[in-house]
Amino acid sequence: MYTKAEISSLQTLTKSFIEHPKTIELNPLRKLLKFHEYQYYVLAQPLISDYEYDTLYQQLVKLETASPHLIVSDSPTQRVGNSLNNSFETVAHLVPMLSLENSYNAEDLNDFDRKAREGALLEEITYCVEPKFDGASISLVYENDLLIRACTRGDGVAGEDITQNIKQIRSIPLSIPLSDYGIQQMEIRGEVIMSKQSFANFNEKLKANQMAVLANPRNAAAGSLRMKDPKEVAERNLDAFIYHISYFTLTQGASTPQILKTHSGSLELLWNMGFRSPQKEKKLISNIQGVIDFCTQFEMERDTLPYEIDGLVIKINDFDLQEKLGMTSHHPRWAIAYKFKARQATTILENVEFQVGRTGAVTPVAKLKAVAIGGVTVSSISMHNEEYIREKDLRLGDTVIIERAGDVIPQIVQSIPSLRNGSEAIIHFPTTCPICDYTLEKEETEAVWRCNNPVCSAQIVERMIHFVSKDAMDIKSFGDANIRKFYEMELLKNIPQIYNLNFEIIGKLEGFGKKSVDNLKTAIEASKTQPLYRLIYALGIRFVGETTAKTIAANIHHILDLENLSEEQLQSFEDVGVKVAKSIHQYFHDAKNIALIKELASLGLNMIQTNTTAVDGNLSGLNFLFTGTLTQLKRSEAEAMVEGRGGHIVSGVSSKLNYLVVGEDAGSKLEKAKKIASIKIISESDFVELIN
Ligand code: IVH
Repeated sequence: MYTKAEISSLQTLTKSFIEHPKTIELNPLRKLLKFHEYQYYVLAQPLISDYEYDTLYQQLVKLETASPHLIVSDSPTQRVGNSLNNSFETVAHLVPMLSLENSYNAEDLNDFDRKAREGALLEEITYCVEPKFDGASISLVYENDLLIRACTRGDGVAGEDITQNIKQIRSIPLSIPLSDYGIQQMEIRGEVIMSKQSFANFNEKLKANQMAVLANPRNAAAGSLRMKDPKEVAERNLDAFIYHISYFTLTQGASTPQILKTHSGSLELLWNMGFRSPQKEKKLISNIQGVIDFCTQFEMERDTLPYEIDGLVIKINDFDLQEKLGMTSHHPRWAIAYKFKARQATTILENVEFQVGRTGAVTPVAKLKAVAIGGVTVSSISMHNEEYIREKDLRLGDTVIIERAGDVIPQIVQSIPSLRNGSEAIIHFPTTCPICDYTLEKEETEAVWRCNNPVCSAQIVERMIHFVSKDAMDIKSFGDANIRKFYEMELLKNIPQIYNLNFEIIGKLEGFGKKSVDNLKTAIEASKTQPLYRLIYALGIRFVGETTAKTIAANIHHILDLENLSEEQLQSFEDVGVKVAKSIHQYFHDAKNIALIKELASLGLNMIQTNTTAVDGNLSGLNFLFTGTLTQLKRSEAEAMVEGRGGHIVSGVSSKLNYLVVGEDAGSKLEKAKKIASIKIISESDFVELIN
């Protein structure tokens, strides 16, 4: 799309504009912003930081505000829609949107190839194979270089106008150099997707706001297209692959560009015009056996892609040949989808259990008739909260579709009401705690029902399990099962009792030889000297994870210093926001919690931050973050090395970060860090060298 020379001159221009913003003129500024959007959203290779981009963008807004008559419809500022201005009017496609015939195995593919060869009277056919993107299909119309309309698939003949929402997808250009190719109007097809990472982030946000999570990236993408408010669409970080030119007209006197003789040529043209077409993902293969081998291999590697695909699409590469074969009333005869083995399955929702967590949240868990999906047997799926059950209208005895998408935890996609026989029963959410019978409560802003009984045995047990867990006090050889067993036997009623166990009785229990008792004793004793952050994390304060616990510990001397800190003071700690500060403040203003901490102190547990003044090592004052899988060191070892040398581990990418250490399969953190020029991005080997 951009030549090396263009990139270099655009970068020089960027530099000079950032240094002297007043010298910028409207047109070069727009060109520059488009270039940087392309680098970021299509190529995922940003060349400037978010801050620098914003500086340029704000300058454009300023110039356009001063001269509104100079605003053009493809200006980067014109993506932002007014709130709620979506029309969703029905519009006819220029050419109907067909679907593809499906194939599932080598036999189907051989069949397809045989028919095509017979129709074409050819010995062998060259195919172009590309991913079958698992999202929502769209159709775009460009006229005189400008995007004029975007539609959903609808019934294939007409779809809904979603132009304003599509403009929020930055990898879709608002204008393209159609005229350079002698094209006047062009209709193209593609798929809107949400990457696995964006999907995970999106669900995290939903969870944090106590809202029902979405089952898969496809639903998330499809749902986004019909949102009333384009601003919300912009926040969802959608992406789009464009894979098909369905129609075009030429400007007067122009002839069809040579490149439009083949499908692979059309992908190249789309790429050159600035679209994210599967230009790099496509593969040209000269016979069907090669296609079959490629499909088999690709299916095994599907999880390595950063987005979901549900198969591959095999297209005859030559357009003349495509035309010769034509189509049936439903499908083109020149293309077929090869569908990967489903990671969806249907099963029966047999029962629902209501589990009480350490914060009292009651989570409904679906107990399913066991079923295998993608090599894993699934018999139990969290349903998160009551809303999830109601929204999906799930009933006991229902046949449900469940899905395990990539690395995403299994979800219930939907029930199949047409398979009901009348015996299905409504799921009644309990009004009282299933463990202690205390009346459940739900805050207005939350979706979860909670048991607020401080002595609810389920919560006591879960809190103890958390307290001894690996990332907390790390009392090895305890384990969930022993905690439950000791609790039931009344050998262990609360956290302090962990340090006062009756080993005489425990030693007589089945499975507890002298060695295991000794191990347990040693582990409990060793936990007393754990660093302060572990204790803070182990207490199970809401919203305080391991990293926040470390931040808190680094800012105090004694744990009870927290009694004297205001919410505002807590918020001044890195990564501690309003919600977290409030929760910490509440915890340390509850007499029961203070009594618990004092009791633990009297039992000999460390309450002190031992190295409040940073270790004066060679990493003193530097912030580090690790991302991806490390191959030489364990993550915890690497982090300890940083801290041992006076450095800090931070929880996220921000301008405060000095070093991002990148392991294998790094994801969004790396992408984010690339946009902040001050962050040094180093490999694991660089890191090892650095600390030595
Ligand atoms: S080509 C006339 N290519 O799969 C051919 N479709 O039933 C038009 N899809 O509705 C489709 N990735 O939404 C094509 N690389 C790809 C695709 C793709 C995903 C979707 C598309 C279509 C459905 C096929």
